[in-house]
Amino acid sequence: MSSSESMHGMWSSRLMFILAAAGSAVGLGNIWRFPYVAGENGGGAFVLVYLVCIFLIGIPILMSEVLLGREGRQSPINTMQVLVERSSAHKLWNVIGWMGAAAGFMILSFYAVIAGWAMSYVKSLADGTFVAATAEVANNEFNSFVGDPYQVVMWHGIFMVLTIFIVGRGVSEGLEKAVKYLMPALFFLLLVLVGYSATTSHFGEGLEFLFSFNVDKLDGNSVLIAMGQAFFTLSLGMGAIMTYGAYMPRNASIAGSATIIALLDTAVALLAGMAVFPLVFANGLESSSGPGLMFVTLPLAFGQMSGGVIFGTLFFLLVTFAAITSAISLMEPALSWLIEHLRVSRVRGAILVGGVAWILGLGSAFSTNIWSELYILPQMTIFDTFDYVSNNIMLPVGGMLIALFAGWVVDQKVCEEQLQLSPGQFTIWQTLVRFVAPAAVGVVFFVTLFG
Ligand code: TRP
Repeated sequence: MSSSESMHGMWSSRLMFILAAAGSAVGLGNIWRFPYVAGENGGGAFVLVYLVCIFLIGIPILMSEVLLGREGRQSPINTMQVLVERSSAHKLWNVIGWMGAAAGFMILSFYAVIAGWAMSYVKSLADGTFVAATAEVANNEFNSFVGDPYQVVMWHGIFMVLTIFIVGRGVSEGLEKAVKYLMPALFFLLLVLVGYSATTSHFGEGLEFLFSFNVDKLDGNSVLIAMGQAFFTLSLGMGAIMTYGAYMPRNASIAGSATIIALLDTAVALLAGMAVFPLVFANGLESSSGPGLMFVTLPLAFGQMSGGVIFGTLFFLLVTFAAITSAISLMEPALSWLIEHLRVSRVRGAILVGGVAWILGLGSAFSTNIWSELYILPQMTIFDTFDYVSNNIMLPVGGMLIALFAGWVVDQKVCEEQLQLSPGQFTIWQTLVRFVAPAAVGVVFFVTLFG
């Protein structure tokens, strides 16, 4: 007996749900994070584990989040409360909602910092900073930008204000219209870049780096990071997709939508890798150079291509928009709870959530300059720590609990009704969320922590 509408608004169609969820999924995680973590973890073997995680763990959990959200039709915190009560389950299950909101703040805080970097690059590409630049110039440009606390904090703030503005306008007003045009445009520009990379003599080397599945290079920690990346890139484990599911029309297919979202997201990540690595090798850069990878290789390529000023400016603009459509989904779980619980207006709630995340983000903004030697975990700055803990611990734990909750605790008739699968397909989904996904997360944790 789930309600048919959410008080926050609804997507106007299934396609809009898919675009919004793909807008959440496709973001900095694909274009900025995927190439650099793949680079740091040896390439091909990492990519293989990542792909396995997307299909065996990611899609079933994506389906679970959507179905729980559409059943509850509220913020993840309240949706969980309702479903826990209806299933007469232990109150501890509510941790899914609460930990999700906490993870959302943590991720948004550093996410907005990197998005701010991308925004500042819109300006640098537009004013021709990288025209005919050498690798050394591009490197120095990046280091001097992230080394300047004022610049970083300013752009971080601009990005947060923009996000607050869009979230404040509501579910269907700003967002739906934006994703409709931005997602295809991003795809197109990415293809242009891959096309450019293909003209360099190192395209094959780039592909080999990404796709030569050489499993000896794997260690426990890189498997954990590949799994964390799969959760991060699909926006799973913290209730973002659950929130979007709450706004999904009742008659739309969950399995079909989830598959399309995952395929789009994976395609963007792989294309980003195919754009970046050939340029890395062509310019003698380090594939393992970390968070700066995209900010050095791509401007370098744009600086050498004709029309690069225009394409480069557009590209970073679209990266910024991709980041905004993701940042929105990081805000929405906590914000929808504030609206339901405290009856604050959407605009005020957005300012509150964004403000707190901005302040929390100062730690990450300073991690590349005045606090670059301040380590929280061993050899990890505040930025590194937030990134590591949220992606590699909170999201997988959240996702595992969501899978267990959907597979064991919720009345399975509800799941059947929501998913509308054939009996055989339903059994596959059930097996994946009951056993495979939780066991995989458990094994990876065990091996990393004690192995
Ligand atoms: N998936 C987005 C990206 O790849 C980031 C993101 C948005 C996210 N919402 C999320 C990550 C929720 C984890 C949880 O850039």
